[in-house]
Amino acid sequence: MKLIVANWKMNPNSQKEAIQLFNSLKKSLKNLKKAKIVICPPFVFLPLLLKASAFALRKSGLAFGSQNCFWQEKGAFTGEISPKMLRDLGVEYVILGHSERRKIFAETDKIIAEKLKLSLETNLFPIVCVGETKEEKKRGKTFQVLEKEIKIALKKVPKSKIRKVIIAYEPIWAIGTKNSCSPDEVLTAILFIRKLISKLLDKKTAQNMRILYGGSVISQNAEEYLGEKNINGLLIGGASLDVKEFLKIVKIAQSF
Ligand code: 13P
Repeated sequence: MKLIVANWKMNPNSQKEAIQLFNSLKKSLKNLKKAKIVICPPFVFLPLLLKASAFALRKSGLAFGSQNCFWQEKGAFTGEISPKMLRDLGVEYVILGHSERRKIFAETDKIIAEKLKLSLETNLFPIVCVGETKEEKKRGKTFQVLEKEIKIALKKVPKSKIRKVIIAYEPIWAIGTKNSCSPDEVLTAILFIRKLISKLLDKKTAQNMRILYGGSVISQNAEEYLGEKNINGLLIGGASLDVKEFLKIVKIAQSF
């Protein structure tokens, strides 16, 4: 079953627009049997949208995620949100280490590893983003970057929780650029990641790990990625804010 994750980033700008966007998706997401959809809106819209989605709807293959969380359970951390607060709301997934957070908010691999550890202890499904910059790609460093990011992230993950971890390969040069990574290149990166996980953990974990692709995915290119059995789903930014586009991608995901 393919996993489609919508990263709304810092959009939209009002509750009214958020609920409108969600309501336009809701009907079509009602009877999902062959794909899992995770909507990740900004924190402030989570309670509203969770309330708006009936329990039955959530059971049908729709879930919610946040775009970040903190690495401590509670305390004097002004402006932060803990995994426990998210679980308490009914949030099931959390995006960690997105390149925008790594770059703009200086999140390091070590910080991401701490967030991953606590998210797993709190029973969230973490979606860990990894990927190289344009410069790193040019210098032939893609595999090195992936290896470093994944090795550090997984260091503190207990074996009993590893099946909950989802990795998203998001080459930074492909994000929001209309310059998507070719399916062949994505596949090469994902196969590298599986090999690495097999080396770090074991073959079965590597085979079962869900690995997504993200970066300028639109309805016209979604099928090329989803057609690959090694690509378990997509992490979608811009196109997830366009109802028609997003629903087209969901439909494609259901055909696999
Ligand atoms: P775009 O789909 O807008 O390129 O964004 C990808 C992304 O960053 C998802 O997390």
